[in-house]
Amino acid sequence: MRPVEIRPKIYWVGVNDRFTQLFEGLWPIGEEGVSYNSYLLIDEKSVLIDLAKSIETDEFFSQIDQLIPISKIDYVVLNHMEPDHTGILGVLRKIAPKITILVSEKGQRMLQAFYHLTENVKVVRDTEELDIGEKKLKFYYTPFVHWPETMMTYETTNKILFSCDGFGGYGALRGALFDDECKEQEFYEREMLRYYANIVATFSKPVLKAIEKLSSLPIDIIAPSHGLIWRKDPLKVVSLYKKWAQYMDSPAEKGVTLLYGSMYGNTEKLMSSVLKGLSASGVPTEVFNVTQTHVSYILASLWKNRGVIIGAPTYEGSLFPPMGDVLQMATVKRVQNKTAAIFGSYGWSGGASKRIREMVEPLNWQVTEVFDVNGGPTQEDLQRAERLGFEFGKKILEQP
Ligand code: FEO
Repeated sequence: MRPVEIRPKIYWVGVNDRFTQLFEGLWPIGEEGVSYNSYLLIDEKSVLIDLAKSIETDEFFSQIDQLIPISKIDYVVLNHMEPDHTGILGVLRKIAPKITILVSEKGQRMLQAFYHLTENVKVVRDTEELDIGEKKLKFYYTPFVHWPETMMTYETTNKILFSCDGFGGYGALRGALFDDECKEQEFYEREMLRYYANIVATFSKPVLKAIEKLSSLPIDIIAPSHGLIWRKDPLKVVSLYKKWAQYMDSPAEKGVTLLYGSMYGNTEKLMSSVLKGLSASGVPTEVFNVTQTHVSYILASLWKNRGVIIGAPTYEGSLFPPMGDVLQMATVKRVQNKTAAIFGSYGWSGGASKRIREMVEPLNWQVTEVFDVNGGPTQEDLQRAERLGFEFGKKILEQP
């Protein structure tokens, strides 16, 4: 892509990643892609804000070269040390060894650990300002959005917040860079929620703290390092992130995530009846076979919905392992405060529902019903499963 001027002498110079299959080596982005947005501010002192993963390096530097010789850049601000934003730092340093790296205090230590760089590094303090000519930058520490060293950079003249991971999402740029040009906002919002649930959710309290800390700043543009730039309605993404962060400690949306796995179809038969009941209740429902859908997508649904129904067979006296993996990831990501129900089939001894309770109760999931069936479900069992779905759906919809 060519550089895009977002305000006079302020340019987007990022790259799209349509090669990486698993973001962080974990989360599928093969179809969706992701962008690494970097920004170049040309002034008396020229500044790069955040970099990119070590892909498309030629393209990255050729975009900058179209605007300014790389050797003329004075500073590179590293808001966050994760290598999706710093991977090409080593190459940059070789091309332009005199560039001063600006990082937070903790960022300095990580810079040494990840890249073994100590020369031409300057620590900026929380709320420190830097005059670069006509423009001024102000740095705000926003720890744990996403790592402990993370900060955001505010450009005071044009009121632009360079927020790095904050307010970012998956999804390579598909031609449009700004929210007001984008006809696919539904795609970006969906991918922003998945990114939030996968990457940021654990740090929901720091997200709320950061939003509070920045709440008095006048912001005309939010320029994150992943996804669209928000200039028409920058507060929209702040509201979305705030809403999702609050789901950690308060009920989420009135919807149900139905998770199931089945070995020989008995739990699946029960699931079909539960689903019928849920549908009759009118509650919005998302269904996932945990052996077929990557947990990345399941986490987004779990984070968004206040109700969870788990259908899993007993496997060797305990829980069907793929369901255990999903619940373990929900534990890692602190998917908390859900209303839940459990069902499943067992052959000789039960064990799945007990193990599910052990896993979800520490997350403050209120288990309202457990329905275990020995072997194949009878007609009465199927009717009971349907009632379970209907009553559960009604309960979710009737919650305040
Ligand atoms: Fe986009 Fe935490 O890196």
